[in-house]
Amino acid sequence: MVTLDETTATEEQYQLATYKKMPVVAERGEGVWIYASDGERYLDLYGGHAVAGTGHCHPHVVKAIREQTEKLLFYSNLVYSETRARAAEKLVSIAPPSLTKAFFCNSGTEANENAMRMARMATGRGQIVTFSGGFHGRTADAISATFLGKYREIGQPNVPGHLRAEFGDIDSVRAVADDSVAAIMLEPIQSMAGVCMAEPSFYRQVRELCDERGIVLIYDEVQTGVGRTGEWFFAGGEPSDRVVPDIITLAKSLGSGIPVGACLVSEKIASHIKENDLGTTFGGGMVAMAAVTATLEAIENDRMLENVRGVESYLRERLREIKQVVNVRGRGFLLGLEFADKAKPIHEGLLERKIITGTSSDPSVLRLLPPLCLKESDVDVFVEALTQALRGE
Ligand SMILES: Cc1ncc(COP(=O)(O)O)c(C=O)c1O
Repeated sequence: MVTLDETTATEEQYQLATYKKMPVVAERGEGVWIYASDGERYLDLYGGHAVAGTGHCHPHVVKAIREQTEKLLFYSNLVYSETRARAAEKLVSIAPPSLTKAFFCNSGTEANENAMRMARMATGRGQIVTFSGGFHGRTADAISATFLGKYREIGQPNVPGHLRAEFGDIDSVRAVADDSVAAIMLEPIQSMAGVCMAEPSFYRQVRELCDERGIVLIYDEVQTGVGRTGEWFFAGGEPSDRVVPDIITLAKSLGSGIPVGACLVSEKIASHIKENDLGTTFGGGMVAMAAVTATLEAIENDRMLENVRGVESYLRERLREIKQVVNVRGRGFLLGLEFADKAKPIHEGLLERKIITGTSSDPSVLRLLPPLCLKESDVDVFVEALTQALRGE
């Protein structure tokens, strides 16, 4: 058995130290559980940055990936593929009806870069409006669109063509969204900012402004998409006043851990995109496509959307018992537990009790992004541990 110390030392020696890691050597996963090399198991309420939507190693997804790897690992978009055709058809079939085409890439930041590019191509305009608190990725255009904490600064010199508005404040959007603006892009629930949602009327007002001024509306659903809110997408749902954008971007849980991103695009946007306008070597590769179809099937077969809604209600009810939780933000399984005090020591206390959670850029908010198959009995384990962590037992 390789020990925690040996693995830690080796990673620290050979991998660039870009993340503060938890002292866990992850070896195996099953559903909501991560098994470490020292034999401990952890209840995973973070899903490896919201990736494990179907849970770890869902058998249907693993089988589909395994079968695909035995047939063809990869061929690019220069040929047709039944696996790719099925994935595109399946993804479009669950999308809001006006979004009729999929573009596949490999990550969230790439999906956002391509969405912004499509908006610029479709409108012939240059500027993109994004919001304070939004996170859109770390490549040049996406990080320049990210007005959260230090991120934009990390990407300096930023690329031109970015304007900032305040999330939830339509007047601030009106003030910048003139006829130089190609797109307004928003993270409908700002996750990293501390799980912040706007009023339903805000999404409606942004949609109306876009229609009025010929601006493309992009929802970055890299976190909120693929069932996380208890619906397939935030777009078209109740908290957005049923608003549907012109483009939705996806990644994270779309491939259950196989890297894949996507843009779902309206017919109107698609009509402006010609051969060679966009491209990618790996996007639409067969293993990723097999993972996408199987992920969506697993969510359907196991009725995970219903599960998210039911278990969210149960979790909210149980959290009412804990007076230190002053507010529960978000929707479905993208939840921000707001504490009167700092969340970091609670995150650490939970980890000592073998529960993985996330923090955010709001120091008082603990983030939960569990697999969509989390059960009420798992919630009981969490609430018990949280109670103990808060008592310092
Ligand atoms: C809302 C949102 N958009 C975009 C991204 C970037 O995705 P990726 O890390 O796959 O490039 C993230 C990643 O955390 C995200 O949360």
